[in-house]
Amino acid sequence: MQVQKMFTARISTTRLHKTITELSKIGQLSTGGITRLTFSKADIEARKYVSNLIRKAGMSVGVDKFGNIIGRSLNATFDAPTIACGSHIDTVPNGGALDGAYGVLGAIEAIRSIHEHYKPTKALQIMIFTEEEGTRFGAFIGSRGFAGLLDQSTIYAMRDKENVTFRDAMHNANLKPSSQRFRQPPNIRAYVELHIEQGPILEHEQKSIGIVESIVGLGDLEIEIEGKPGHAGTTPMQLRRDALVGAARIILGVNRIALRTGIPAVATVGSVAAYPGAPNVIPGRAIINVDYRDASLPRMKQLETKIKSIFKQVADESNLKIVIRRKSLTKPAKMSTKVTKIIEASSRSLELSFKHMQSGAAHDCQNMARITKTGMIFVPSRNGLSHAPNEYTKPKQLEDGANVLLQTLLRLTNE
Ligand code: GLV
Ligand code: MN
Ligand code: MN
Repeated sequence: MQVQKMFTARISTTRLHKTITELSKIGQLSTGGITRLTFSKADIEARKYVSNLIRKAGMSVGVDKFGNIIGRSLNATFDAPTIACGSHIDTVPNGGALDGAYGVLGAIEAIRSIHEHYKPTKALQIMIFTEEEGTRFGAFIGSRGFAGLLDQSTIYAMRDKENVTFRDAMHNANLKPSSQRFRQPPNIRAYVELHIEQGPILEHEQKSIGIVESIVGLGDLEIEIEGKPGHAGTTPMQLRRDALVGAARIILGVNRIALRTGIPAVATVGSVAAYPGAPNVIPGRAIINVDYRDASLPRMKQLETKIKSIFKQVADESNLKIVIRRKSLTKPAKMSTKVTKIIEASSRSLELSFKHMQSGAAHDCQNMARITKTGMIFVPSRNGLSHAPNEYTKPKQLEDGANVLLQTLLRLTNE
């Protein structure tokens, strides 16, 4: 590799912004927000869009058995040493244009620029992970499958709230795993993920780049509460077994526990469904999700034990049946010192200010960290806002992050 020339390599800013705008139109709602749930029509369209971009970036593209899109430098042999990068294109309901999408499009653009000017000595690979957000089946399914943390039969049997299995949803989306052997090469030497911060720290401290040191763990429990449906006018209050009232008590209890546990513990109920869902029927069934996070595994376990004690208390006191289903458990992760140092050197060479930091949001790279050296690059989020339509990062900040990724990839391929 032409080492001197390497340091002057930059992304095409025009292409980066154009592709961010184009992808943001897929699944865009009248609110301006974006909904691209796994294997939905919008997700399928977005998959086609990014697959075309991957081809234009000088890569072959295929899908693995978990629906992950994997692009790989053309002509790279199956066992060539590989540097991988990527993120996700699914969104939360009514989400923004950058969470996940920025990391994917920044990675494609960085690889495209590299392929246009250099012949890297290692294979480059882009990974677009299925169901990062967990809105439909459970968080990080694609990266957990890829990293061997969940087996195929468990993943294929997972069900969404309409009881559709992952296998059927993937089949209905017409996604067939490609037969090429490039899908899961054995030799991934490093994985780097570019992402918006989704919090206020970089903006507040006026830093261009966040270099992630560690990421909190994330658990997602789905709670099904069963009471008894009945007529809202004729059933006396004392005789009711209202599942939604049970859910409300759980929501307050979970909030209280996280507050008492203290920073960095957090717990959220962000999804509530009541059945049959009519104003004049006592809800006989409710389903809620509890998302809880903390910095270490022992702390996460303690938090989960306290949260589960609330379920038991509510079930006993309100005469409700409660079934707990674990949707995901992603362990806290430390980033690789080696990759972190390379991100820092890349930021310095671009004369960008940076800050070493923790991530309170969870990411696919936590699972990749179980199988390879992993690093993560953040750019600022305006007002710290994410998982919302007005998620925003200034164009120059987006360009800076993608250039840091490009430099990091080049340095890793040159190791
Ligand atoms: C991932 O988006 C998370 O919820 O942290
Ligand atoms: Mn994300
Ligand atoms: Mn997200």
